[in-house]
Amino acid sequence: MGRRQELEKRQSLLARFGRMVAAETHLDSLLTIIAEEVRNILGADRCSVFVVDSYKGELWTKIALGMEEKILRIPLGQGIAGFVAKTGSAVNIRDAYRDTRFAQDLDRITGYQTRTVLAVPLRGRDGKALGVFEVLNKSKGAFTEEDEGLLRILATMAATFIENATLYEDLRRSHLETIYRMALVAEYRDQEDTGRHLRRMSRFSGILAVGMGVPTPEAEDIRYAAPLHDIGKVAIPDVILRKPAKLTVEEFEEMKKHTVYGAKMLANAESRLLRLASKIAVGHHECWNGSGYPYGLKGEQIPLEARIVTVADVFDALSSKRVYKGEWTVEDALRYIEDKAGVLYDPKVVAVLREKFGEILLAREEENRRMMEDEAAGLQQHFPLRPKDADHQLPKSA
Ligand code: C2E
Ligand code: SIN
Ligand code: SIN
Ligand code: FE
Ligand code: FE
Repeated sequence: MGRRQELEKRQSLLARFGRMVAAETHLDSLLTIIAEEVRNILGADRCSVFVVDSYKGELWTKIALGMEEKILRIPLGQGIAGFVAKTGSAVNIRDAYRDTRFAQDLDRITGYQTRTVLAVPLRGRDGKALGVFEVLNKSKGAFTEEDEGLLRILATMAATFIENATLYEDLRRSHLETIYRMALVAEYRDQEDTGRHLRRMSRFSGILAVGMGVPTPEAEDIRYAAPLHDIGKVAIPDVILRKPAKLTVEEFEEMKKHTVYGAKMLANAESRLLRLASKIAVGHHECWNGSGYPYGLKGEQIPLEARIVTVADVFDALSSKRVYKGEWTVEDALRYIEDKAGVLYDPKVVAVLREKFGEILLAREEENRRMMEDEAAGLQQHFPLRPKDADHQLPKSA
């Protein structure tokens, strides 16, 4: 390729890079896209993006181990990435194993053999260190000064987007937390194990959605909107909601209104998640054969999100204790739901429940265990999203 063509190719790759990273607001996916694009542009074998966790004084990155992705954390100041983060200067190394700064532990964990390394700092708008961009093993020879210039440009572009995604993620997190706490309010009077039902049915809804072929971002939305399905119960009087016996016909008529109350509380929201929650609230007691409430919708007239949440909700309601009923075994609950497939429940969703039953039971165990640990630690049942923990930790001393 001529020099001119080479330049043109790099320019078009740069433009593509800008478009792709601008479109992604999830920090996780953003880092993956950036690493892949930068690797291509520089003709390197690998690209790692290290992000500073100033709270812990560490850098973290995602590494691929076979099919799995792991989070790896290294102390600031350690390794080449740590050096670049600390000093703010770029590093270009021809033979990593002869450089004392190089942390071989990383290669040992990944089974990778690093030869050449080019690393530049990632700086935020105010100049503070956000992380480090590292490319490894150029396909031919060592990294050049031109490569370094290019990596600096890419780092500047990426920094802006990483900063934005971080802000967005904070917003998203507080939004999710608010939603979850709203749902807790409704469930508070209803059940002794406040929160458990919500966490479990939320997880089940996500698993069922993925099994139904819903793409990941939308499946995640269903997972986080699902806990609001019974928010309308806040408007149901205690004498009905907490009655430790069967409801009269009139009482059940009143009870049924929790679907439309919930939908009204959530309707026309700005938030996409709240609008989805509204759809779920009104649809979660509709039945496949049209015998449900409030509108008696049938089959695919019922939104898919609601059909999914119904199965998650009923499975968990059956297998838990309620003021008005004891708990069934998970096998009995599954059997009941399978018996009503195509009658009360979408047969496809029920098939997924069967198919993913192992995963569902694991999620159920996990949530139960988590709540018990939190209670033992004297914590309020706090929001379940926790900061990422390290899968691997390098020793603090280099
Ligand atoms: P929930 O307790 O969250 O139950 C959700 C759904 O799970 C129920 O919707 C029903 O489809 C299913 N489910 C729960 N327990 C049983 C059961 O023992 N047998 C069967 N076959 N299905 C069960 P449903 O029936 O529309 O009830 C909606 C809500 O009305 C319930 O939410 C609960 O809050 C209340 N409710 C229903 N029946 C009674 C009752 O007999 N006494 C009281 N106090 N509340 C009731
Ligand atoms: C988030 O932190 O924005 C969501 C993480 C998750 O989906 O588990
Ligand atoms: C939720 O209950 O809002 C989601 C929590 C989780 O599934 O970890
Ligand atoms: Fe309900
Ligand atoms: Fe429920």
